[in-house]
Amino acid sequence: MPKPAVFVARPLPGDLHLSLADATELSFWKDEFPPPREALIRAVAQAEGLLTLITDRVDEELLSHAPRLRVLSNMGVGVDNIDVAACSARRIPVGNTPGVLTDATFALLLKAARRLFEAADFVRAGSWKTWYPNLLLGRDVYGSTLGIVGLGKIGQAVARRARGFGMHLLYTGRPNPEAEAQTGAKLVSKEALLRDSDFVSLHVPLNAKTRHYIGSEELRLMKPTAILINTSRGAVVDQRALLDALARGRPGGAALDVTDPEPMPPDDPLLKLPNAIVLPHVGSATDQTRAKMAQLAIDNLLAGLAGRRLPPAT
Ligand code: DGY
Repeated sequence: MPKPAVFVARPLPGDLHLSLADATELSFWKDEFPPPREALIRAVAQAEGLLTLITDRVDEELLSHAPRLRVLSNMGVGVDNIDVAACSARRIPVGNTPGVLTDATFALLLKAARRLFEAADFVRAGSWKTWYPNLLLGRDVYGSTLGIVGLGKIGQAVARRARGFGMHLLYTGRPNPEAEAQTGAKLVSKEALLRDSDFVSLHVPLNAKTRHYIGSEELRLMKPTAILINTSRGAVVDQRALLDALARGRPGGAALDVTDPEPMPPDDPLLKLPNAIVLPHVGSATDQTRAKMAQLAIDNLLAGLAGRRLPPAT
């Protein structure tokens, strides 16, 4: 029996993609940069299985060049790069990698609260001349209030860690009584969460409802000392509104692991603001997490090729 043709759109951590060579007719994109559109279109012409990353756009046009495609597996929990409805219309199941990266997103909150990036830059720049009481003062995490937008898997993982740090927890979004009971987070309105939180952390997928969920109105509600943390998708925040708000000092700061667009152009004015931290989408960037994501993406791909049901993309 001929092996099914698959295309993997990037080398996977630990060369895990090579594990597909036994069971499939494997081809893969050998560069760390995404395949240009024409190359991706060419690559899917024969593919029965396609493994993509969050940087690869899968839309009606691409699907129209992939007549043999039977399964699409995305290495990432977010599927906003994929037209899932177009895949469903063609009965192509879509897999993603939820659950495995829930433990990697708390670091940014701590770093932003204590201004650790700024402090490290300060030392590197040779500015450390003495100790004084007002040097690089940050915010206490202990005893402060964290507002979690979206108490799904990642939101809950953040909540559990925050509890360990003695934070009070609010959340908004879809009611989740079970997670409330487990984490002690209290359901409040969006407005109350923005008004009462010292840190606001976003954990919603990007879709038509959540695009620009945080805009100028919302930013105006936040405390002048509050910090906005985004590890979800850049477009959940209206970045222009954020720039204006930060320049005016309300909220007090923002820590963004994700931007709109990605990569953020080096001349973006946000990068000039001392109260903004921007990272290159590294929330899940640990050896362990990326290996788990890659393995799950491979498992989903093989399940789809074998005609087994994939857990629906969440
Ligand atoms: C995802 O999985 O969607 C993340 O943003 C990438 O780690």
